Amino acid sequence: MDRSVVIVKPDGVQRGLIGEIIHRFERKGLKLVGIKMVSLSDALLDEWYAHHKERAFFPALKSYMKSYPVVSMLWEGVDGVATIRKMVGATKARDAEPGTVRGDFAMSQQYNLIHASENAEIAKKEEELMFSKSEVFDWEKRDFDHIYLADELGK
Ligand code: CMP
Repeated sequence: MDRSVVIVKPDGVQRGLIGEIIHRFERKGLKLVGIKMVSLSDALLDEWYAHHKERAFFPALKSYMKSYPVVSMLWEGVDGVATIRKMVGATKARDAEPGTVRGDFAMSQQYNLIHASENAEIAKKEEELMFSKSEVFDWEKRDFDHIYLADELGK
């Protein structure tokens, strides 16, 4: 079981796609363990996008991510990080496969609606940056027994 941080970016909030995005992950069988609306700070964005710091688009990326509030979520599932990345689609949204969030709703390289953790290690770092312990809920999702084999749940 692993956890991915998903952010509905300012364009997703503006375009009224918060519910659509949540609905997709819920229907897939993932478990929501944290959710909040937040305005992202310079300090958080500098850390979050440290690997893009030298890129020409970094200043524009930062000001876009600060332009309006975002909705941050933490989703859990077996191979959750990889599964969510597949559901999100390619960065350049007009190249993203139909059926993915970006492929169905976006066209831009920057305004691509959604962030999802790249791998399990980055997901851990992002969870710590974005959520305090009291904002993460370790509840029992009882329909997991109908979504996974006992083996897959480690039971
Ligand atoms: P994501 O892959 O979630 O994280 C980095 C973000 O930077 C990316 O989504 C886009 O929103 C943005 N981005 C990536 N490449 C470019 C680019 N070439 N021009 C503008 N924005 C970009």
